[in-house]
Amino acid sequence: MLQEKRIILGITGSIAAYKSAAIVRGLVKEGAEVQVVMTAAAKEFITPLTFSTLSRKPVISDFFSRRDGSWHNHVDLGLWADAMLIAPATASTIGKMANAVADNMLITTYLSCKAPVFVAPAMDLDMFAHPAMQRNLSFLRSAGNHIIEPTDGELASRLIGKGRMEEPDRILTILAGFFAPPPSPALSLTGKKILITAGPTYEQIDPVRFIGNYSSGKMGFSLAETCATRGAEVTLISGPVSLEAKHPAIRRISVESAEEMYRAATESFPLMDAALLCAAVADYRPEQPSVEKLKREQQKELTLRLIANKDIAATLGALKRPQQVLVGFALEIDDGKVTATDKLHRKNLDFIVLNSLKNKGAGFRCDTNKVTILDRTGAVIPFPLKNKAEVAEDIITHLHHFLC
Ligand code: PMT
Repeated sequence: MLQEKRIILGITGSIAAYKSAAIVRGLVKEGAEVQVVMTAAAKEFITPLTFSTLSRKPVISDFFSRRDGSWHNHVDLGLWADAMLIAPATASTIGKMANAVADNMLITTYLSCKAPVFVAPAMDLDMFAHPAMQRNLSFLRSAGNHIIEPTDGELASRLIGKGRMEEPDRILTILAGFFAPPPSPALSLTGKKILITAGPTYEQIDPVRFIGNYSSGKMGFSLAETCATRGAEVTLISGPVSLEAKHPAIRRISVESAEEMYRAATESFPLMDAALLCAAVADYRPEQPSVEKLKREQQKELTLRLIANKDIAATLGALKRPQQVLVGFALEIDDGKVTATDKLHRKNLDFIVLNSLKNKGAGFRCDTNKVTILDRTGAVIPFPLKNKAEVAEDIITHLHHFLC
């Protein structure tokens, strides 16, 4: 997707500047032509030589070349580019961009640039959360810039914080996705809003233990990527998994328990055109989670009393408006068609995707799945074993018949 694309990479004065080397390397590997523009502060963190070597082009940072006094024309540069990426973008640079403070080559190039601009902020969490920063970012967003915020992954939100720069791999994926050819009109989901649940839920026993299951989130995340690639706006409600959503059209809501997933799903559903409920939601939770860590020295045996969680699929089935499409999954251990058909009708689904652990390579954790779609018209469509990205394509193509 990036073959022969001309990319200006703006680098500003942040410790994350070292990550930009991986971005240049990735862009060049994909066949892009890269012109690096560095601010003076960026050069305090990493030398221009690194970038001129990787990009095979002299780095620009001043209005004039120090070598021969020639003028670097920011207007020509802005017109040359197919895209501009500013990564890392410091609070100071973002402030200058939002206020047209044209006091360096990077900002003048930005202001002259007619191509789409991608901005990957890098700063500490408090700076990122400051209202002035958020105002600048929303202004840049409203002016058509693409802000690449770190994925709301478990790790990002809990350990590292939202202000850190997104990883080079994801930045490259976002750029490549931008240049990907649009989906064929026959498969397009442009303008559709789709809710997807994914992963397991954790039901707390005590502060260090939970009841969970083996769901990795792979099936649900593949569905989310497929929908986003076909042009849909995706809300992905995910239980605790180690995956990251790559496509910028995926808004991720991270939850832990079935109750949190229920709340997020019922709040989001009224605005959606369709929902695909792929999460392995715990059916039960401990009635009374312990606030203290349970100690084996204090009791030889332990009985947990479990109570039923709310059924998200059945609740959305009851709320469903005639134009909305609701898709469930059924994980069974045998042939499962009878049970899946019962779930299809009982939860008022439009179709259900049956996967059974009796088939090797199907269900939890693995990269493949073997599914059968059963729909409310009585159709039963079996598919062979495929990787989960291909399975997601089959499911979303079926969804397309209901939606469009
Ligand atoms: O995440 P992976 O490792 O890739 O694995 C994918 C998967 C095996 C988890 C997935 O393909 C799958 O089958 N998900 C549904 C598993 C499941 O919980 O099935 P179920 O038969 O228990 O539930 C039926 C449907 O009701 C499902 O759509 C489920 O999301 C939904 N449900 C269940 C219980 C509950 N309290 N609320 C719900 O919405």
